[in-house]
Amino acid sequence: MSFILAHLSDLHLPVPPGALRPLGQLAGKRLLAYLAWRRKRQRAVPSDALLADIAASGADHIAVTGDLTNLALPAEFAAARDWLERLGPPDRLTVVPGNHDATVAVPWAAGIGTWQAWMTDDAPAPGAVPFPFLHRRGPLALIGLSSAVPTMPGSAAGRLGAAQLARLPALLDAMGREGLFRVVLVHHPPALGPGGRRKALGDRAALRGILGRHGAELVLHGHHHVPLQDELPGPAGPVPVLGTPQALATGRERPGWQLHRISRGGEGWQLETTLRLQDPATGAFRDARHWTRRLAPSVSSEAGSSCGIHPAAR
Ligand SMILES: [Fe+2]
Ligand SMILES: [Fe+2]
Repeated sequence: MSFILAHLSDLHLPVPPGALRPLGQLAGKRLLAYLAWRRKRQRAVPSDALLADIAASGADHIAVTGDLTNLALPAEFAAARDWLERLGPPDRLTVVPGNHDATVAVPWAAGIGTWQAWMTDDAPAPGAVPFPFLHRRGPLALIGLSSAVPTMPGSAAGRLGAAQLARLPALLDAMGREGLFRVVLVHHPPALGPGGRRKALGDRAALRGILGRHGAELVLHGHHHVPLQDELPGPAGPVPVLGTPQALATGRERPGWQLHRISRGGEGWQLETTLRLQDPATGAFRDARHWTRRLAPSVSSEAGSSCGIHPAAR
């Protein structure tokens, strides 16, 4: 019996008609983002074939790791909410935001909070901050982090911040003790990627340290718009860190998504990952890569951690 998790990211959904008015909204970093959007994505739309491919995959759950918008305009958040409603109900869909969703500071209720239904903790504590949140789905414990913070013009960086980093270890430990397959969802990867520090998670070393000491079975991210594979040292073995390609068809990179088939295998877990990319000739999505990993049982111990020293480039 396996559980299928579909992962897509970086939708950069079309800016709705009229959303750019009044033009006074387009100032500062949002103006730069607008110029980039006109240059790279103005005519791009998410592929209906991609959504049909996910629907046909038999996925038990879908994870979306941010950058649903381009300019963080209130009308974009509302349009993205409508799109998410078509993608799946909250019990089948988990969402975390990306840096474009925090291009500028937008009040929670008009911005990222528009997607609250897909980000609400299963057992929200009164007054608790929104992140990290927990979704238990089948054998999975999906832990959503937000790396979406407004940054300086020209920066696509992210930051988790002290509050999220303080709450994450206990959550990982608790889910590890329950023997669940812990999936950490975060827009920015926990290591330097293409673009270096300008595009990186500022407190990535702290996140790597926590994952190294407390463990996770899988980290899923987006942000770089291309498929990426990495791993981090964890207390019981390597923690796979997998980046999914952009879901948006811009004509420059092939859009795609990843399917993760998770099953208990012997003492631990088996993770089968399939990268699905669009065939530019036919528009259909096809298997581009498939690989299988065997992972150790979920653990939550700090003992025996192999993490602590990381390559300087990270
Ligand atoms: Fe993006
Ligand atoms: Fe991003």
